[in-house]
Amino acid sequence: MTTRPAYQPPVLEGTRVRLRPYRDGDLPAFFGLHADPEVMRYGSHPAWTHPDQARDKFESSRHGNAPDRQVCWAIADRDDDRMLGGVTLFHVNAAQRMADFGYMLERASWGRGLAAEATTLALDHAFAVLGLRRIEADIDPRNSGSCRLAERLGFVHEGRLRERWEIAGETCDTAFYGLLARDWKTARPA
Ligand SMILES: CC(C)(COP(=O)(O)OP(=O)(O)OC[C@H]1O[C@@H](n2cnc3c(N)ncnc32)[C@H](O)[C@@H]1OP(=O)(O)O)[C@@H](O)C(=O)NCCC(=O)NCCS
Repeated sequence: MTTRPAYQPPVLEGTRVRLRPYRDGDLPAFFGLHADPEVMRYGSHPAWTHPDQARDKFESSRHGNAPDRQVCWAIADRDDDRMLGGVTLFHVNAAQRMADFGYMLERASWGRGLAAEATTLALDHAFAVLGLRRIEADIDPRNSGSCRLAERLGFVHEGRLRERWEIAGETCDTAFYGLLARDWKTARPA
């Protein structure tokens, strides 16, 4: 049996942020991000309360990457390389050339256009390098910041899936968004 060489997401440089692979020293920031109830308000699980809860997801984000599986980048400050958040292409379906998209940023960095910059770097890579043709985003319709960001990136709202999730006893709808490679050619923020 041949083993595949370990894959690491490439470093992508923006003007204010850099996407780079996670590194061991990011673990406290990774936990802190997922432990902030404001960041996790519309997330897929409640805010973590103990650092042990970070272990599996961090391990997967750090070592579980492959272009036909998932690509997890840390969003880092370009000046000091400090981790500010993350952006992920997950559930990559290589046969269909599709993936799901997720992003999150520490609360102190919201509202400065950093998420738009980071997600644009990831989408450029997804379409131009990985050759994907469709990217999907599942967003809680009450998450106005995330809906606005997706629309700013050219994602099209394709429908509402009612009561799709039950998270910490709360039933949540999904605003379902899709972005095609051909949409990106015209919608990509300058
Ligand atoms: C969603 C999130 C990444 C946005 O980060 P951000 O850095 O504040 O976003 P940006 O500054 O790049 O803004 C992008 C666009 O969204 C708008 N926006 C950002 N937050 C907003 C809010 N709370 N309400 C309305 N619009 C908002 C900005 O005005 C901008 O639009 P514009 O270009 O037309 O001015 C951030 O709020 C976050 O991490 N939230 C928690 C995690 C999360 O919900 N992730 C998404 C799960 S689906």
